Amino acid sequence: MKYGNFDDTNREYVIDRPDTPAPWVNYLGSPEYGAIISNNAGGYSFARSGANGRILRYIFNSFDQPGRYIYIRDDDSRDYWSASWQPVGKDLNNYKSKCCHGMGYTRMTAGYDGISSEALYYVPLGKSYEVWGLTVTNDSAHVRNLTLSGYAEFTNHGNYEQDQVNLQYSLFITRTLFKQNQIIQQIHGNLDALPEDETVDEKNVTERFFGLAGACVSSYCGDREQFLGRYHGYGNPQGILSGDLGNMTSYNENSCGALSCSITLAPGETKTIAFLLGTGGFTESSVLLDGYADPEEMIKQELQELKKYWYEKFDHLKVNTPSSEFNTMINTWNAYNCFMTFIWSRAASFIYCGLRNGYGYRDTVQDIQGIIHLAPEMAAEKIRFMLSAQVSNGGGLPLVKFTHNPGHEDTPDDASYRQDTGHPAYRADDALWLFPTVYKYIAETGNLEFLNETIPFADKEKASVYEHLKRAVAFSLAHLGPHGMPAGLYADWNDCLRLGADGESSFVAMQFYYAMTVLKQFAKCRNDAEYVKYLEEKQEETGAAIQKLCWDQDRFIRGYTEAGERIGAAGDPEANLWLNPQSWAVISGLAGAEQAETALTNVYEQLNTEYGALLMNPPYHTDAFDGALAVIYNQGTKENSGIFSQSQGWLVLAEALCGHGERAFTYFMENAPAAWNDQAELRRLEPYCYGQFTEGNASEHQGRSHVHWLTGTASTMMVGCVEGILGLRPDLNGITLSPAIPKDWTCLEIEKDFRGKHLHILIENPNGREAGCEKLMLNGNEMTSNYIPASFLTDTNEIRLIL
Ligand code: GLC
Repeated sequence: MKYGNFDDTNREYVIDRPDTPAPWVNYLGSPEYGAIISNNAGGYSFARSGANGRILRYIFNSFDQPGRYIYIRDDDSRDYWSASWQPVGKDLNNYKSKCCHGMGYTRMTAGYDGISSEALYYVPLGKSYEVWGLTVTNDSAHVRNLTLSGYAEFTNHGNYEQDQVNLQYSLFITRTLFKQNQIIQQIHGNLDALPEDETVDEKNVTERFFGLAGACVSSYCGDREQFLGRYHGYGNPQGILSGDLGNMTSYNENSCGALSCSITLAPGETKTIAFLLGTGGFTESSVLLDGYADPEEMIKQELQELKKYWYEKFDHLKVNTPSSEFNTMINTWNAYNCFMTFIWSRAASFIYCGLRNGYGYRDTVQDIQGIIHLAPEMAAEKIRFMLSAQVSNGGGLPLVKFTHNPGHEDTPDDASYRQDTGHPAYRADDALWLFPTVYKYIAETGNLEFLNETIPFADKEKASVYEHLKRAVAFSLAHLGPHGMPAGLYADWNDCLRLGADGESSFVAMQFYYAMTVLKQFAKCRNDAEYVKYLEEKQEETGAAIQKLCWDQDRFIRGYTEAGERIGAAGDPEANLWLNPQSWAVISGLAGAEQAETALTNVYEQLNTEYGALLMNPPYHTDAFDGALAVIYNQGTKENSGIFSQSQGWLVLAEALCGHGERAFTYFMENAPAAWNDQAELRRLEPYCYGQFTEGNASEHQGRSHVHWLTGTASTMMVGCVEGILGLRPDLNGITLSPAIPKDWTCLEIEKDFRGKHLHILIENPNGREAGCEKLMLNGNEMTSNYIPASFLTDTNEIRLIL
């Protein structure tokens, strides 16, 4: 079943069937002021923290309510509907609706009974409030008297849990006032006699506002129960039924902001108004509302700004391939998804309630990779931040607090850190993610100077980026297991794999092997010959250990437990083949060519499904070892033999590195949200964003996907597609072009900005190949290989590669 389409020209996903199998959402603003909105206007807003700064209430895990509701009432017929299909939910035979999720905005258009409406929701660029613009047009032949009402359900307390469960407290600290064109909510309003900088029990007055611009308020309501009416719901609120909100405020009840205005429209006439919502009191909000005195003009301008902001970023890489799914993902949706994971981390979605009080180290360092080719300096800023969360012993802080204070943080070695964050120990992989990320940034920009920047460590001291990386290697070397591979510590990438502090993970060992390849290159550039030699030795030892201990007939095993048990060996009754060690054996450069072929073929034959490759198989059930935490999940789910989407990106990359264009693209398509657009009921999640996992074949619901938007998949898939399938591989001195594509792609075109220069790349495939380079032309000159030194590039470059 299909619920919508990609409008690539306008970079919008257009939902024309609103009864989607799940709320399909968009992200507005940033965590400074964040708003999540579904195609039926469900969702919530917060300032700074999803858990502690919650402004709009949303009931998780329910039926996508409440939301940013706008009601339209015909005052003559007394019929009413909403600007989004829900919450009123008119019969879809009479009610025409469209929801367009765009870059930083969502637009709902509706047509009902001769009235058309357009609600545009957005957070103005860099601002910390939200706008709900509403334009209503009378398409009928007679004059229409309408009441337009906006409804925002405030939380009674910024903390999500306090608001939801500590009612004996949170109901009695909130009240609303009405002034002029606004409902002002006050939390702890009784503290208004306190000087601004004083608190009682760390509390002071907090204010939020919901205001109307472009029309006069005809009635208002600040009390949820009054607005809805007992035994009514969002679909038939008493205040809308009656056409009069009753002019009530709230005191010791649930607060809300509801504002109505009455308008009269002649045939063909149009009217635009705007509701504004944010934090702050009457003085601040009045200034903001004054800015929307001509709402139409202001909204137009602000929408333009948002589009410009996003389009400029996406324009740094544009592809035109024979696959519309690939094009839409790379040019728009995967890119946008990458920025959302980069900016929002795992802060807030309809699954993440915002309770994580910091950035996961590994997640964040990986998220950065997805935007390096589009916004390298934004990436560098975050890399600096993450380096400042590296402990001076070289390990990463598993969780970097939102209040992170470089140089002054406690670490997993301190009881206080463990208590604060719930992270009991270092993880083996955290700091190792820095290597591919820093390398990609330097290769993209050529900015080797970055290695000299001084950055503090999390706990004490500061050092150059180069030294930070050396310490990460030292950390792994200081924590080797009994076989000489990096010890498992608390966990590796897989949250559900506890090999024991002295267990050993092949995945981490491969990451470590790769880290040394990267660092060797940096060391060579710096003529740090002694260190190069040291790394060569260590890398050889690590490589030899992995080969000797982890290769088992036709696969790399997953590792060793502390007790010396082999995990993921061919003869194991459960979990005898794991995906990540096979793909990472290739990505890390460790696997020999034959090994790579064998391991990847094995994956294709044993782990692949219609929806992607299983993380491991068979699932754990009766034979789980002590640290096999995955067994807590149903079979075919998440780490227990689910199709873990993040790993699909690595698989795409590994296949492409081996020149297997067909398989790389097959894996891309199996997992690509856009590729499931016509069967969206199966996947359930938005067809324009990745999810954390898809249920595997051990589940009755194979193909159903979960945990939308905020997933490491966005960045691994982006890297898999750009470096892998498109084969754009910058290094320290230039760029290799090594596409790996389906045989039937005869031609593709890429526009890429690279180190201040523009590349127009035409890839021709006259012989139906899936990889290779017959000939590479740069500005009319034939190159000797598929490599272009950066020094050969002019401002604009015509590049032609024949496969
Ligand atoms: C989740 C976690 C991530 C972890 C992955 C695999 O996506 O956010 O940190 O690596 O699961 O367990």
